[in-house]
Amino acid sequence: MDDLTTTLQSLGVSDVPKAPNTYPELNPFDLYRSHLATLLAPLSGQDASVIYPALQYTNTLDKGDLVLPVPALRIKGKKPDQLAKELGEKFPEDDKLVEAPTVSGTYLQFFFRPEPLKRVVLPAILKRGSGYGFNPAFGLRDPRDPSKGKKKAIVEFSSPNIAKPFHAGHLRSTIIGGFLAKLYERAGWEVVKMNYLGDWGKQYGVLAVGFERFGQEDELVRNPVGHLYDVYVQISRLQKEEDERSKQLAVEIKGLEGEEKAKKQEELDRIVSEGVDEQARKYFKRMVDGDEEALGVWRRFRDLSIEKMMKTYARLNIEYDDYSGESQVKDESMEKAAKIMEEKGVSENSDGAIIVDLTKYSKKLGKAIVKKKDGTSLYLTRDIGAIMERYDNYHFDKMIYVVASQQDLHLAQLFKITEAMGMKDIAEKCQHINFGMVMGMSTRRGTAKFLDDILRDVGDKMHEVMRTNQAKYEQVEDPDKTADTLGISAVMVQDMSGKRINNYDFDINRMTSFEGDTGPYLQYAHARLCSITRRAEIPAADLLDADWSLLKEKHAIDLVRSLAQWPDVFINTLKTLEPVTVLTYLFKMTHALSSSYDHLQVVGSEYEIKRARLALYEAARTVLGNGMRLLGLSPVERM
Ligand code: ARG
Repeated sequence: MDDLTTTLQSLGVSDVPKAPNTYPELNPFDLYRSHLATLLAPLSGQDASVIYPALQYTNTLDKGDLVLPVPALRIKGKKPDQLAKELGEKFPEDDKLVEAPTVSGTYLQFFFRPEPLKRVVLPAILKRGSGYGFNPAFGLRDPRDPSKGKKKAIVEFSSPNIAKPFHAGHLRSTIIGGFLAKLYERAGWEVVKMNYLGDWGKQYGVLAVGFERFGQEDELVRNPVGHLYDVYVQISRLQKEEDERSKQLAVEIKGLEGEEKAKKQEELDRIVSEGVDEQARKYFKRMVDGDEEALGVWRRFRDLSIEKMMKTYARLNIEYDDYSGESQVKDESMEKAAKIMEEKGVSENSDGAIIVDLTKYSKKLGKAIVKKKDGTSLYLTRDIGAIMERYDNYHFDKMIYVVASQQDLHLAQLFKITEAMGMKDIAEKCQHINFGMVMGMSTRRGTAKFLDDILRDVGDKMHEVMRTNQAKYEQVEDPDKTADTLGISAVMVQDMSGKRINNYDFDINRMTSFEGDTGPYLQYAHARLCSITRRAEIPAADLLDADWSLLKEKHAIDLVRSLAQWPDVFINTLKTLEPVTVLTYLFKMTHALSSSYDHLQVVGSEYEIKRARLALYEAARTVLGNGMRLLGLSPVERM
């Protein structure tokens, strides 16, 4: 017999109700919804399967634990408020799990009875620990038959461009994508984390030419991302100068004669035939033609950059499964795509270029070029090839592109072309998760260019904030490390505090504050719970059979009610795919927590009370930690 059945029997509830595809052992709300649906079915004459999904969790605890909007029962012939009243009156006064509902207009508000709730929820949290709230069965191909395996999701995120700044768009993609990957993992999916680097195109010829001139081997090894960027800036400047000079020369030549003209012509010819632009073109051509020497140099830049990036991503708890990139898309795939597009009449020739006229599907989609006149591929062409390759390699059930909303059109075109090519089933598995812009992401060092700079800057600021409380600061073991972790939390929480699509201001003072709904605030809440546990000195194993009836105070009960919601918040997050769904809950829960400290002291209380309260705080710490880790944060134990 499982734990839940035993608990329920001890409460006098003999049969454990279980609606299909629900998990009462994992989610207390599934238990209560099943129980209520079963109970309300005969009272309302409606089927339990209709009642079940209509029961929703509430955003404020004074509205109950579950509410039922009576119109959602779709019962004809009676006014919903009248029906609500009748149902309220018919509801048994003596139900073991739920109090008789409060009728509010057309709503029924259900409050769970505190005693059974505590006994169902708290031991479950303590036992499930880091797994509480998550449900690995969601990702099964067939929930009744785990041997059929897991569903597979590709999450493509971050995707910066080598030798170019890592801008705010990449930062948001990294944070949101890292979160989505964790979300699907915790829902039991097999997740492939993919970074699709911008690592191909003529600019890599420019970079190689630049390295010959300005590159320094030791710098490249020491700081590849920064050094390649510097080289790129220098060579681009030269390229621009040459470009301007040749324009100027072309004008001057017109008005000249004889020797002077010849001299200027010679200079111009030299720029055209030997200048950076031409050298870069030739270099990139060699890369395209598979020249091993040229590719070797480029590959080295790429490998060193990736090696460096991996370390930076690790600071954000992100590890990729696949460093792909534009360079990795095979010519064959793009040729195959071109052939399908031609055969299906998707593409057409327009002045020597190949285009796809998408206006026939929607005006907004416009016309897209898929092959330039000179036969070269484009960003879009490579994405079309990549989608086909990824499907062949992974047979994904879902693929998420985490890319800024500036690229809405690009991705809409990509998906539409995929569909038009006869791969509707694949297109339907793809989803663009977009997001708004970060305004003013500049730091004291100037405009932030690389992820490392951003993180270091915020870490420094956090260190400064920590120093303002000297007494506490002295107790922190490794202040640098803690400041770094807090700084990262600050950046991430600020990023995830609104709906994804909203723009926000990069405000280093606000995000590093301990006041308000910030990363440092969450970290503080977590560290405080850890400190309570340390000081109480009761072994974790002794908490499971604490006397829950000693948790009488409203603060304690409300906290339990809040903790009970977490598995449902997780389910809801799988629907919204918004990190703010998690954050809103965590802030609400931590506010309830901080207002309870004065009422529910641990140290100094009589042993049994101390044990019960500590168990409650341990449960809160578990939920907070689980939520933070889901967001990609590393909860600290001391700060
Ligand atoms: N490297 C691109 C950029 O920085 C983002 C790539 C997005 N992903 C894709 N499959 N197109 O703008």
